[in-house]
Amino acid sequence: MSEVTEVIDLGEYGDAFRTDPHPFYAELRARGPVHRVRPPGADPDHETWLVVGYEEARAALADPRLAKDPSKLDMTFLDEEQIGKYLLSVDPPDHTRLRSLVSRAFTMRRVELLRPRIQEITDDLLDAMLPRGRADLLESFAFPLPITVICELLGVPEMDRAEFRKISTEVVAPAGPDSEYDAVVALATYLTELIEDKRCAPGDDLLSDLIRTTAEDGDRLSPGELRGMAYLLLIAGHETTVNLIANGVHALLTHPDQLAALRADMSLIDGAVEEMLRWEGPVEAATFRFAAEPLEIGGVRIEQGQTVLVGLTAADRDPARYPEPDRFDIRRDPRGHVAFGHGIHYCLGAPLARLEGRTAIRTLLERAPGLALDGPPGPWLPGMLIRGMRSLPVRW
Ligand code: HEM
Repeated sequence: MSEVTEVIDLGEYGDAFRTDPHPFYAELRARGPVHRVRPPGADPDHETWLVVGYEEARAALADPRLAKDPSKLDMTFLDEEQIGKYLLSVDPPDHTRLRSLVSRAFTMRRVELLRPRIQEITDDLLDAMLPRGRADLLESFAFPLPITVICELLGVPEMDRAEFRKISTEVVAPAGPDSEYDAVVALATYLTELIEDKRCAPGDDLLSDLIRTTAEDGDRLSPGELRGMAYLLLIAGHETTVNLIANGVHALLTHPDQLAALRADMSLIDGAVEEMLRWEGPVEAATFRFAAEPLEIGGVRIEQGQTVLVGLTAADRDPARYPEPDRFDIRRDPRGHVAFGHGIHYCLGAPLARLEGRTAIRTLLERAPGLALDGPPGPWLPGMLIRGMRSLPVRW
């Protein structure tokens, strides 16, 4: 076992790391699959392990000794305090129970039923955008599509959506600790009222289904668990898919040969979206895990209680798994990528995200034959959770 003591301060890499972290991850990977780091923007005393190798990332994500439930560390997080427990803050057996209850309502069939509606929302957004000749693709297309889909799926009334969008953006990219607190409290209050409304007047949306869902043994989601589930689905359901669409279109527009290949044969779209997920996935690192007991990853000893970040975008560019990993190639076989995670917390919304990503990108290319970049993209988002741009100016 190697003695790793050096702490790498990722913040010292500055804006270059935020704009393009891949060369930094490549350098780290060349030195070893697991490192002790200080994440950018973190407190000076905040250190964590970062896994950058593909095999080690898969192993870590599937390792039951790496836990999620903060109460095991005598810790609570703001969202859990205000909102309640949710899938990414629990371990088995709680996780198994919650996941099986939500899986009963959030089925492939329900996702498949959304197909015509997703196409319709996509067409409506393009009808509004295309006559303008140029636009910020994020603002006009990549953002409104998933948020409309997830709000309709859960049954968030249309009149509440602008307000909801403001609060939700504040939760994932807070301007400061006070505004984050206010946003989480506002969201908790909003969701409590929404669930109460649905309880009185159920609809045919997912939230009403979740309220009704009962397992064979009579088990149901408690009010707090319902709120946690609605919270996670709303946040996870749009802050990620936005960036699949925007990062994917950005990858195509900066690789004209790949764009031409896709335009020439649109049947390549499914594989192209998988390559977009591998090459510039929307989730840079999985949510925090901590060692419930001492363990070893990639020859490095992790002590009990220490936290671990699994670098998903770093793992997906590991040359030991994908030859020439930095080459964006829509015809390669990207299967096995970890953009949706791996193990028991594997993304519950992956089928929906894929359906939205494929529909959005295919329809955009078909309806905007001259699509091109219209200047440099806005800055990349800070932090290591979400990999995405603030704006993507395009013309056609
Ligand atoms: C391209 C879009 C998406 C990406 C890249 C993505 C990625 C991920 C990843 C990496 C995880 C695992 C996190 C971890 O282990 O720490 C995850 C979990 C999850 N995602 Fe997604 N996601 C996407 C879209 C969605 C959508 C559309 C929904 C819901 C409608 C959704 C719902 C969830 C839920 C509920 C979990 C927690 C599962 C569990 O803990 O058992 N995601 N997602």
